[in-house]
Amino acid sequence: MILTEKTLARKILVGVSGIFLLLFIIGHMLGNTTIFWGPAGLNSYAHHVQSLGPLLWLERLIMLLLVSIHIYFGITLTLENRQSRSTKYVRRTYQRSTIFSRTMIYSGLVILAFIIYHLFHFTFQLTHPEISHLTDSAGRHDVYTMVVGSLQGFFVFLIYVIGLAALFFHLSHGVQSLFQTMGWNTDRTMPAITKGGRIAAVIIGIGFLAVPLAVFLRVLNI
Ligand code: HEM
Repeated sequence: MILTEKTLARKILVGVSGIFLLLFIIGHMLGNTTIFWGPAGLNSYAHHVQSLGPLLWLERLIMLLLVSIHIYFGITLTLENRQSRSTKYVRRTYQRSTIFSRTMIYSGLVILAFIIYHLFHFTFQLTHPEISHLTDSAGRHDVYTMVVGSLQGFFVFLIYVIGLAALFFHLSHGVQSLFQTMGWNTDRTMPAITKGGRIAAVIIGIGFLAVPLAVFLRVLNI
């Protein structure tokens, strides 16, 4: 791809929105670990988040904007890249191409489908209404029963495994690509950045997977 100013600006928009999405993902993963403190741990954490009120809505609005920017410019860049690669006389270059870099658009679309399902599952609470609107002994929303009860179903578990595998793929290339776009790399540091990005993807993947896996293995129960 010929790197015009317009292309670079788009890449930076994808990168900067990616940084904030990554921060949300890390925060969400750490928040999820409160489930290992039992119903009181997760319910009290969820209660604190819910009680942010207008701030929570502001965060949701910003997230929606960031996700839209990330998807729109991510897709247009990929399409432009493909077009320029298929143009005659332009030498095809697959620089540092890996299965993760070649499948960015697909892993991204699987994550999008997963997030839509996930919102219907836990935010709109429409997929398992029978266990989604309970309250615990302290009168808080019983998020623990909603999460553990629904993830006990095999197909729900499978959807989470597929979504998290896509997240792992996306981050495996995304993190190092971010450093490159922002110019935070040199030829000397690039191998370490690539390795670090892969390790971060593994940690985040395992961090999220711990919850559905613990439910599946009945380590977490209702
Ligand atoms: C095992 C994995 C996961 C579990 C158990 C989980 C759990 C939850 C729960 C319980 C909520 C609702 C919180 C509430 O309203 O009280 C939620 C919301 C959300 N999750 Fe996840 N999540 C997981 C993975 C992910 C991943 C991988 C992503 C993104 C890539 C994600 C993105 C979101 C978003 C965008 C929301 C909506 C936040 C809001 O309502 O403001 N989640 N998640």
